[in-house]
Amino acid sequence: MNKAVFGSIVLAAGKGTRMKSRRPKVLHEVAGLSMVGHVLRSLRQAGAGETVLVTAPEQDDVRTAAAALAPGLQLAVQEQQKGTADAVKSARSYLSDELRPVIVLCGDTPLLKSQTLIDLIGSTTERGDIAVLGFRAADPTGYGRLLLGNDGYLVEIREHADASAEQRAIDLCNSGVIAFKSAGLLAMLDEIGNDNAKGEYYLTDIIAIARSKGLKISVLECGEEEVVGVNSRAQLAEAEALMQDRLRLRAMDDGVTLIAPETVYLSADTALSEDVTIEPHVVIGPGVSIGRGAHIHAFCHLERTEIDDNATVGPYARLRPGAHIGTGAKIGNFVEIKNAEIEAGAKVNHLSYIGDARVGEKANVGAGTITCNYDGFAKHTTDIGAGAFIGSNSALVAPVKIGDGAYVGSGSVISKDVEPNALAVTRSPQLQRANWAQRKRAAGARANEKIDQTRKQQA
Ligand code: UD1
Ligand code: CA
Repeated sequence: MNKAVFGSIVLAAGKGTRMKSRRPKVLHEVAGLSMVGHVLRSLRQAGAGETVLVTAPEQDDVRTAAAALAPGLQLAVQEQQKGTADAVKSARSYLSDELRPVIVLCGDTPLLKSQTLIDLIGSTTERGDIAVLGFRAADPTGYGRLLLGNDGYLVEIREHADASAEQRAIDLCNSGVIAFKSAGLLAMLDEIGNDNAKGEYYLTDIIAIARSKGLKISVLECGEEEVVGVNSRAQLAEAEALMQDRLRLRAMDDGVTLIAPETVYLSADTALSEDVTIEPHVVIGPGVSIGRGAHIHAFCHLERTEIDDNATVGPYARLRPGAHIGTGAKIGNFVEIKNAEIEAGAKVNHLSYIGDARVGEKANVGAGTITCNYDGFAKHTTDIGAGAFIGSNSALVAPVKIGDGAYVGSGSVISKDVEPNALAVTRSPQLQRANWAQRKRAAGARANEKIDQTRKQQA
């Protein structure tokens, strides 16, 4: 991908009322990343330099979240939402007039690809002064229509509310992404009025103004799915589905086996190496990387976890933030791991909770082992040495340390450190009474006989 260097303005001051949410629209997530996060990411991948985000005065949370995602982001505030032209105006002063080129786009189009941005930028140098990203809409209702001249260049964008019946029949629509040869062209925003159906200052009016000055405006078409704007929860779900398909295809292209791709959920930042296999019904949240040859069995839930080469996980395992599964390690069914290093070749195969811990190389943690990491006030750590063996159904009461090669007897409650190669067991001694069961059964039989006799006498 040949990156372009350009400035950008991201519009996000709209209210997003149709989401019916306390959360601002652009902070809703698709594949574990906010919509504005996706847009900023595509911009970065395309090579955007100076970027200005336009928000409404009350949107502190959007500014904070976006600034954390894109260091160096400039934050403009649009005092009142008077339309897209007014929004761009509020950002204009952050960019010098000489800056070129500049792209304007919206914060609610998470599927926009960086290559498309690069191509659009290219159009401003190769095919005219301004380039508009258009698409053929299956249902164009609500979109601005692109009116082309006989020369094939754009003459005007007519908003749906202001369009004639004939114009509404046009399916070539404005995606909302517009690239300008230089920031200086944004001076034309001052000529835009609000004499239209909505009484708003339309950015799209800049096209007719530019044309009247003899500038050339080209149209670049992209697929509709790339520019779906999210306005409602249903559209959010549609965007999620499209993004998941894209992520699954990319994973398979990269050499990952997905047995039933439609049942595997990935995150925008999921990093999968070659020859990873993921079985059906696996959910991968943000911050997960999986090394070569690792195998994730069905029904696992992973987040903020690192899995090294050839490890196996699940079925039915839950790996929570800070889990690190070493090379060739095995995590089995109904195991939960949180903030723990499971070193190379170690095994935690069944029904265990390992939290705030280290499990040393090749250690074996038996079924039902629990690290008791929380005492109701604070979290404490458990350290299990290399090659140690933890018998089934043991409770390791943290802070506690099990030395290298030590054994813990099954069913123990370990609250003191165990020396390397020692055996620790807290089981009470086993009692045995010869023939006790026979006597027990005989006594039971006699008692039943007595009850039967009493019943007969009473009848
Ligand atoms: C806009 C375009 C339309 C295009 C459509 C694509 C205009 C006038 N129309 O219409 O041609 O087909 O997008 O989805 O530009 N915003 C602000 N401040 C404002 C108003 C809007 O920041 O005062 C932001 C919104 O947060 C949003 C973007 O600008 O991200 C677009 O605004 P919206 O009201 O959704 O425009 P549409 O009517 O969809
Ligand atoms: Ca919109």
